Amino acid sequence: MIYPIVAYGDPVLRKKAQDIPADFPGLSALIDDMFETMYGASGIGLAAPQIGKSIRIFIVDATPFEDDEDLSEADRKMLGQFKKVFINAEIIQERGDEWVFNEGCLSIPDIREDVFRKDEITIRYVDADFKEYTEVYSGIAARIIQHEYDHIEGILFTDHLSALKKRMIKGKLTQISKGQIRADYRMKYPLAKKKR
Ligand code: NI
Repeated sequence: MIYPIVAYGDPVLRKKAQDIPADFPGLSALIDDMFETMYGASGIGLAAPQIGKSIRIFIVDATPFEDDEDLSEADRKMLGQFKKVFINAEIIQERGDEWVFNEGCLSIPDIREDVFRKDEITIRYVDADFKEYTEVYSGIAARIIQHEYDHIEGILFTDHLSALKKRMIKGKLTQISKGQIRADYRMKYPLAKKKR
């Protein structure tokens, strides 16, 4: 099932999401639906709050980067296998120099901005079988995780922008909340006028 993607301005995107128990009802169907929803929107990451659920699940599938000729062969190889489910994740540490990457978000269509983040993270999480892992990621993989992890903390990439940049995109963000934009996938707009 494909969920509509919650647009900027919806309070669910601002909540700190809650851990789920191993017996969470319908977990595997929910994960399947999240992948279907993400692929339907051509995304490489999706967090549960973006489908209106304030729980600590996010998924990534960076395998499209496998063919990205701007990347090093090592990155292409690594990202070509980077498809995962992160449940109840906690980033334990972020370190290294900050670097800039042009980010976008399925909840904020049509806006892409350069965001600075640290290069390397250590993250603890459980997978769909509730097996626990503590892993280190760097570069683009870390970047994708940091963006999705922010979602389960109630943070959006636009929060990382300078005050000036925030002012410059404010009008556009309001348009997104009102549904005065075009996305190639189904969205749920918090401030859309109800059609009757
Ligand atoms: Ni996002």
